[in-house]
Amino acid sequence: MTIYIPEDKVSEIKNTADIVEVISEVVVLKKTGKNYVGLCPFHSEKTPSFTVSPEKQIFYCFGCAAGGNVFSFLMKHDGMSFPDAAKILAGRYGINIPTTTMSPEQKRRMSQRESLFAANRQAMEFFRKKLLDDISGRRAIKYLKKRGINKEILDKFYLGYAPEGWENLLRFFTKKNISLDLVEKAGLIVPRKEKSGFYDRFRDRIIFPIFDLNMQVTGFGGRVMDDSLPKYLNSPETPVYHKGRSLYGLHLAKMKCRENERVFIVEGYFDLLALHQQGLQDSVATLGTSLTAEHAQLLKGFIGKDGRVILVFDSDDAGIKASQKSIEVFDKAYINAQILILPDGYDPDSYISEFGVEAFLDLVSKAKDIIPFLMDSAVKKHGLSIEGKIRIISDMEDALWSISDNIRRSLYIKELAECIHIDESAVLEKIRKISVRNRDRAKRPIRANTDLGRGHRKTGVPDKAQEKVFQGKWDKLERQIISMMLQFPQILSEIYDRNILDLFENNALKSIGQTLLTHKDDSKLQVSDIIDLFKLKEQKNMVASLAIGENVWDHEACIGIINRFESIRKKNENKLLEQIKAAEKDNDLDLLAKLLNQKQKMALLNEKKKMALLK
Ligand code: GTP
Ligand code: MN
Repeated sequence: MTIYIPEDKVSEIKNTADIVEVISEVVVLKKTGKNYVGLCPFHSEKTPSFTVSPEKQIFYCFGCAAGGNVFSFLMKHDGMSFPDAAKILAGRYGINIPTTTMSPEQKRRMSQRESLFAANRQAMEFFRKKLLDDISGRRAIKYLKKRGINKEILDKFYLGYAPEGWENLLRFFTKKNISLDLVEKAGLIVPRKEKSGFYDRFRDRIIFPIFDLNMQVTGFGGRVMDDSLPKYLNSPETPVYHKGRSLYGLHLAKMKCRENERVFIVEGYFDLLALHQQGLQDSVATLGTSLTAEHAQLLKGFIGKDGRVILVFDSDDAGIKASQKSIEVFDKAYINAQILILPDGYDPDSYISEFGVEAFLDLVSKAKDIIPFLMDSAVKKHGLSIEGKIRIISDMEDALWSISDNIRRSLYIKELAECIHIDESAVLEKIRKISVRNRDRAKRPIRANTDLGRGHRKTGVPDKAQEKVFQGKWDKLERQIISMMLQFPQILSEIYDRNILDLFENNALKSIGQTLLTHKDDSKLQVSDIIDLFKLKEQKNMVASLAIGENVWDHEACIGIINRFESIRKKNENKLLEQIKAAEKDNDLDLLAKLLNQKQKMALLNEKKKMALLK
């Protein structure tokens, strides 16, 4: 399921796109030497180990071993296919991909994601037209006015209106001859239960299109204009819409989040519109779901390592519940989140419209960190009687235990103990007990730091196989040699002439080396192109890891390394002979068999080498 993109267009995109620019959109990068570093978007970390090389146009994370070029980055980060990544970049850099070069077959195979985005965009335009239409949109416009939405926000968020009736959008797509199966997959129409056919999912609702970071329409939210239920309706999960990964308004918030190193997270569509309208554009909304690890990771890319996350909640109860749920998410992302609770009966939208943005910002300045907030709430709720204190501790157990940093945890335990006048060791004892209980119950290690919970993309986490690849005693020198081949291609002919790769023990490294030698005469090949020569993700990561270093190579140093490698391998051969002799003497047949086996392998290698020299 791919669209065809001509090779020359791929090169043009590669030559034009700048990896630093593209990655900067989602990761805060700082310059260090020749390279840029930032917090890895593929795993949680406190100190930046994610490196981008503008010179080589590649990235590599020293923490989780994810690496590649600008295409791999988009594919990994946004979960898109190669053609999608190419198209996004082409669009961004004004490179025209001619569709006429696609064969009918290729056109037919246009990727599903692409078609879904296209269907969503057409639906968005349809809803938009209906809203702006004098007749069909009158009630909706009136409703939006009543809710205080101005024209600018209405345009910026591309709000729309799904008209009354069961088949408006259905007819629109039927007339356009667009496959209804596709429209159903996009979640826009629903199959009828009793008879064949479909009906519109969104009817008589204000429509909020949901965009991804690349401004593609992934899904929709829709609100009724009266008291009917459900008040809000969202697109179902589709191949392009995942609510655990979507944040409403992020496409417009991202620049401000970066600038202010801050983000407000609200719960409602209208709350978000209100904040944006008041100039607080560093705001996003979760879409009727609790905050996920992926949300946290995504936001961290924009606000940076020391950025501020402020969760805005309508009430104490909602706030307490949501904060308890989100502690672990933020803790694992090393984010220090704060909670802002609005007075009873208000949400951000109604609060701002009644008291103004200054009053809101005043509350922002008083926002509390999550744990102190929960402590305060527990004290308020239970009081400081003996019974109350016991309940406070039991309310706080889970929250305190979620903190992975031991020092932070013990500081909070100390604070809690002081706050309720109980001996610190007694609190600690209680918390320990629960930790044991949890462990028994869950039968899992309490702190499993790599698993970020449901739905987390595992792409960045180094797996067992990959770790194994880097073991073995020759790896250090073998890695160094592949590094030099990548960074100092002048050495390729030396490696080739002396058959150095034959001496490699690590097959993964060897095969990378062999691919490099196959292309050794192509002087135009850049590191970012080389990455595309490899099919496996693990290989791409490895190539990036070996290429990204800022080593300065010269011919002499390279020859030195090659010589050393060769002589160690030779010495090893001699050592093997001695061991064989010793084993023979001791009559250790098992060992002897093993050693002979090794020798045979070596002999084979040497044979191959000789043959190569004779050629
Ligand atoms: P308004 O009443 O329009 O101001 O909305 P609100 O955002 O203040 O509503 P509320 O606090 O009730 O809900 C907050 C968010 O939860 C909404 O913006 C929706 O994203 C979600 N939500 C609320 N009600 C529903 C519902 O019935 N179904 C679904 N799927 N989501 C809902
Ligand atoms: Mn509201």
